[in-house]
Amino acid sequence: MTPNQVREKYLAFFKSKGHTVLPSARLVPENDPTTLFTGSGMQPLVLYLLGKDHPEGKRLVNSQKCFRSMDIEEVGDNRHTTFFEMLGNWSLGDYFKKEQLAFAFEFFTKEIGIPAERLWVTCFAGDAELNLPKDTESFEIWKSLGMPEDHIKFYPAKKNWWSRAGEPQNMPAGEPGGPDSEVFYEFTHIKHDPQFGAECHPNCDCGRFLEIGNSVFMQYLKQPDGSFALLPKQNVDFGGGLERIVMASQNVADIFVGNHGPILHFLAGATHKRYGENAEEVKAFRIVADHMKAAVFLIADGVNPGPSDQGYFVRRLIRRSVRYADSLGLHEGGLSQVARMVSEMYGSLYAEIATQVDEIEKTIHLEEERFRKTLQRGIKELERFAGDGTISSEDAFQLFTTYGFPLELIIEEAGARGIKQVDVEGFKELLKKHQEQSRAGSEQKFKGGLADTSEKTTRLHTAHHLLLKALQQVLGGHVHQRGSNITQERLRIDFSHPEKVTKEQLAEVEKIVNQKIKEDLPVVRTEMPKEEAEKLGAEHEFGAKYPDKVSVYSVGPLDSAFSIEFCGGPHVASTGDLAKTDNPSTPLGAKFKILKEEAVAQGVRRIKAVLE
Ligand code: ALA
Repeated sequence: MTPNQVREKYLAFFKSKGHTVLPSARLVPENDPTTLFTGSGMQPLVLYLLGKDHPEGKRLVNSQKCFRSMDIEEVGDNRHTTFFEMLGNWSLGDYFKKEQLAFAFEFFTKEIGIPAERLWVTCFAGDAELNLPKDTESFEIWKSLGMPEDHIKFYPAKKNWWSRAGEPQNMPAGEPGGPDSEVFYEFTHIKHDPQFGAECHPNCDCGRFLEIGNSVFMQYLKQPDGSFALLPKQNVDFGGGLERIVMASQNVADIFVGNHGPILHFLAGATHKRYGENAEEVKAFRIVADHMKAAVFLIADGVNPGPSDQGYFVRRLIRRSVRYADSLGLHEGGLSQVARMVSEMYGSLYAEIATQVDEIEKTIHLEEERFRKTLQRGIKELERFAGDGTISSEDAFQLFTTYGFPLELIIEEAGARGIKQVDVEGFKELLKKHQEQSRAGSEQKFKGGLADTSEKTTRLHTAHHLLLKALQQVLGGHVHQRGSNITQERLRIDFSHPEKVTKEQLAEVEKIVNQKIKEDLPVVRTEMPKEEAEKLGAEHEFGAKYPDKVSVYSVGPLDSAFSIEFCGGPHVASTGDLAKTDNPSTPLGAKFKILKEEAVAQGVRRIKAVLE
C-alpha cells in the first residue's frame, strides 16, 4: 500500500468506530516551552489526557506530522527518519484495553491485510519496586484475539512503559504515562544477526522485527513523592508510524522505498546513480530524501534556518543535505527541485506546503548559498590549521561543528594539500562525546530540566532558583521562567522579558545571588495543596501542569523566604553549599557568574550561568 492509502484506511476505520478526525497540529508546539518540536501524536493533546474535556468528544483520531531531532545522526539506515507521520487514536476516558487491542488487531490484519502470523506483540512485565502491576490483562486479550502465546512477550518498563520522559522514574511530577503494548512486524526473510544477541525477539535491533504500533494505556499521573496516582480517566493513546506500516504492508525492509520513492527516483536520474548499488551512496540518497522532506515541512510551519532553537535544526537538515547531495554529484539547485517534489507528494493533503512552495524553495536555495560561502571560509581555516602539517582532533572537530565539514571532506581536502596527518581517532572520540551529550540533552528535556542529580547539577539547580528571584527583583515582576536546562557544567534559564538585559542589571543580579549564597540560607521542601502554594505566590513554569498536592521549595524559611517555587527538587541543604569547589585549597571559593545573555524568541531571553 502507498502512504496515502494507509492514512486513508486508518482514518476511515476509526471514523467507522465513532472517532472524530482531528487535523494535524503544527510541528512547532504552541505554548510549550519544554520541547522544540511535536514528536508524537499525543503531545498536542496532553491537556485532554490529563482530564480536560475535548470539544470533539472522547474518541479522536488523526495523522500527526512529527519531527524527532535526536534521530538526525541515525538517518541513513533502513528505518530511521527525522520526519514521519504518526497515526494516532485516542480514548479520553472512554474505551480501554479490550476495545483498543481489538481495534489494532483488526486494523493491521483486515484493513492493511498483514497476515496474523507475521505479528508479534509485547506487554508490560510490571515493576515491583515502583508498585506497578504486570499487564496480564493485555496478554489475555491478545490471546483471545487469536495471537499465538509464543508471539506475546513481556518486557520491563524500559521497553513497555510510555511517557514523554520515558521510564516511570524519569517522569517529573505532573507527567502522565502508563504501560503500553507494542505490535511488531516480522520480516521473515531477514536472518537474525547474532551480533545483536544470541536469540532474536521483538525488541532485538537486528532488523528482523519492526515496531509498527504502540497502544499506551495512559492511566497514571506521577506524584511529587515519586508514587503513581490514577488519572481521573483511563485513556488510550495509540501511535503507529505511518511510514513503517507502509513497509509492513509491502514487506519491504526499507522505509525509503515505499515512502520517498519519487525523491529517490529523481536523485537517481539527476546523478546517474542507482539506489541500492553502493552502501555509501544509499546512505546519501536516504539522508537527502529524509532531510529535505523534514526541512520542507518545518519551513512550511514557519521555521526558518537560523543559529538557534528550531531554526538550527532546519539549518542542519539543509546543510547535511547539501553535503550528501554533493557527494552524489547532484547539480547545484537540485535540492530546490527535491523540495518541489515534496510539495507534489504532500501538497494536496498539507495546504501549508502547497501554498508556500515558492517561498520554501527560495529559503532552501538561500541557505544552500550561505552554506557554500561558509564552506569556502572553512577551507581557508583548514589551511591555517594545517600550517604545521597536521590537523588535530580539536581542529577537525571545529571544522565539523562550525563549518559543517564531515570527516571524509576534511581528509579529502587535507590530502589535496599534502597534509598527511588528520587525527581521525581523536575526532571520532570527540564526536561520540558530543553525540552522547546532545542525546542526554534531548532525553532529559522532560526531567524537570535537570540532566542528572549529581552534586554539581543540584547546586546549579538551587542557583537557578536564586537567579530567577534576583531577575524579578532587578527587572520586575513580569519575569517568569519559560524554560530551563541544567547540566553539571552550567545552568540555563529562559524567561519572559521584552528587551536586552543591560550589563549593569546583570551585574546587580550576580551580586544578589552571591549575597544569598553568603547568607547560607536553608533550602526547605514543603508539601501543600496547590491553591495554598499559589496563594504564597510560589513561582511555577508557564504552561506546566501540576497535581492538586504540590511540592514547594523555599530558599529561607517559608514565612520569610527569599524565593518560593513549585519544584520537585533536588536541592542543596543550604545556599552556602553553592560556594563549594573541587579545589582543596579553596573549598568554598566558587562564585555565581553569568556567562551569556541573549534572545531566544520574541519576548523571551536566555541566560547561561555557572558556579566557579
Ligand atoms: N505516544 C505513543 C508513542 O509515541 C503512542 O509511541
